[in-house]
Amino acid sequence: MKGLILSGGKGTRLRPLTYTSAKQLVPIANKPVLFFCIESVVAAGITEIGIVVGDTRDEIRAAVGDGSAFGARVTYIEQDQPRGLAHAVLIAEEFLGDDPFVMYLGDNLIAGGITGLVEEFQQLGPAAEILLASVENPQQFGVAELTEEGVVRRLVEKPKEPKSNLALVGVYMFSKEIFESVKRIRPSARGELEITDAIQDLIDRGLTVHPHQVKGWWKDTGKLDDMLEANRIMLDNIHDNGRSNWPEDVRVEGRVEIGEGVELVDSLIRGPVVIGAGARIENAFVGPYTSIGAGCSLKRCEVENSIILSNCQIRDIPLRIDGSLIGRNARIVKTDFKPKAYRFMLGDNSEVGIT
Ligand code: G1P
Repeated sequence: MKGLILSGGKGTRLRPLTYTSAKQLVPIANKPVLFFCIESVVAAGITEIGIVVGDTRDEIRAAVGDGSAFGARVTYIEQDQPRGLAHAVLIAEEFLGDDPFVMYLGDNLIAGGITGLVEEFQQLGPAAEILLASVENPQQFGVAELTEEGVVRRLVEKPKEPKSNLALVGVYMFSKEIFESVKRIRPSARGELEITDAIQDLIDRGLTVHPHQVKGWWKDTGKLDDMLEANRIMLDNIHDNGRSNWPEDVRVEGRVEIGEGVELVDSLIRGPVVIGAGARIENAFVGPYTSIGAGCSLKRCEVENSIILSNCQIRDIPLRIDGSLIGRNARIVKTDFKPKAYRFMLGDNSEVGIT
């Protein structure tokens, strides 16, 4: 079996971070979302992986390389524009050949990985296996309607009036039959070739589409709240190495993963927390569910339930920072300039919440 990981798209729901960075490279527990995908594909025994890339191709290539760091062999497939998930399959035909494959959207995370699913697909041998999860906002996903016997009747992409609350999770398994279907469908109202329509076409052709309902946790990390939730879940699984000989003025509680060369001075770190290499934390509180990127400097401030990317400076902030996602090299500092005022330099589409 081969793997096809989709890592293009514009990431409009995560601006301004995605003006300068691919959404699949935004870190969760200090690891890019995309790396979790690659690791779970490799864990399922699939090492021949195609990655579909778009505008952010250079950055994705720089991060993933030839795949050897993951025990995989990666081939890059260029998509000129985000023309839809079925279009990605179409342009990957040469790479995929006649092999069955798992398609994984590079911004999706599934707790527990995909090994069991891949095995089920190989045993049952359907034309496709889709994963479904109950959600509260099915309008924002592909939605499946099942018969009473649990057979897939219809799939609709982002329906205004969903027939069920079963969303299509961004992991799919296909036999080569999918190529005929992606060639038969036409672009949707949003101008994309939808994978949902291609799978519907398999059904219309009388082929078997096996639905698998995901019981555990699943997240499409396209938005801030979803990123923070994914961060909370992933931080519960970090490797705890926080107990070392810290100075007396440092308290480390709970599960904490601390990188090389981190300096802690007069601070309380309450896990689950991950702190990247070379960060310096002084006179600060880092509370539960926080990821601090490498090279950050925090001084006289309190942060919790947040994702701070690398090389940020946060200094002398009187209120606790909570529920925040802060991009690389950002500075949040108290200034002594007159007049006494808030002073911002923010990228387009930034968001600031002030109490
Ligand atoms: C895509 C699919 C949708 C699926 C979702 C899962 O939506 O088109 O069917 O439910 O991924 O993450 P998109 O994120 O492209 O809007």
